[in-house]
Amino acid sequence: MTHDDGQNRGDSLIRLAPSLLNADFGHLADQMAMVEAAGIDMWHLDIMDGHFCPNLSFGVPVVASISRCTNIPLDAHLMIADPMRYAPAFVEAGAGSITFHIETAPQPREMVRSIRSLGARVGVALNPDTPAETIAEIIDDVDLVLVMTVWPGFGGQRFIERCLDKIELLASQMSDEQWLQVDGGINRETIPDVVAAGADTLVVGSAIFHAADPRAETIACRELARRAALDSLEASS
Ligand code: DX5
Ligand code: ZN
Repeated sequence: MTHDDGQNRGDSLIRLAPSLLNADFGHLADQMAMVEAAGIDMWHLDIMDGHFCPNLSFGVPVVASISRCTNIPLDAHLMIADPMRYAPAFVEAGAGSITFHIETAPQPREMVRSIRSLGARVGVALNPDTPAETIAEIIDDVDLVLVMTVWPGFGGQRFIERCLDKIELLASQMSDEQWLQVDGGINRETIPDVVAAGADTLVVGSAIFHAADPRAETIACRELARRAALDSLEASS
């Protein structure tokens, strides 16, 4: 399918990126259609290798299948030890953005150049205890920065509050065109805080897929995020 470009859709100030990690993979296409009907900006795909993080998820063939049943952009979060080994295959499978972890990149500039040369948007992710300064040399060159607000590996963990300061700091260093994504423990309770801190792209996993009505929950998160963004704009004007 043709994927659109993932820029702001509709009237939302905040992008919503549901994570499929906690979806029911036996009924994936149905689950995706239900959530897409609520209006989302991208699908967040959590790729885990059991080395960089203590869990396995899915790989290239599953991403290719997902790509065939949606026209929503696919955002691949590579929690893997050797991102460049697999990035070309994920782009080929349909990923429009590739996010690598700074902890896996001894030469981050090279990593950014290589991913960009594949024709994908480039993202860099930081673990909860990784300081903002570690991405200083590439922050101007990436399309998105992902602040992990739980440790990589599992959906359904509790949001780590001390990450809010890092979100605020990074927000002050980034341009309006760059996306500041938060991932882990994002739900109705935490959305107002992360948006107030400056996040503009919200990964939401179990809050949506463990909800009794995933479509309604997606709409609720979206609306809450929109209101929080409007409040922040008002407060700063
Ligand atoms: C964790 C993943 C997250 C996770 C989000 O390693 O990167 O994307 O699936 O799930 P929740 O929203 O349940 O924390
Ligand atoms: Zn993720």
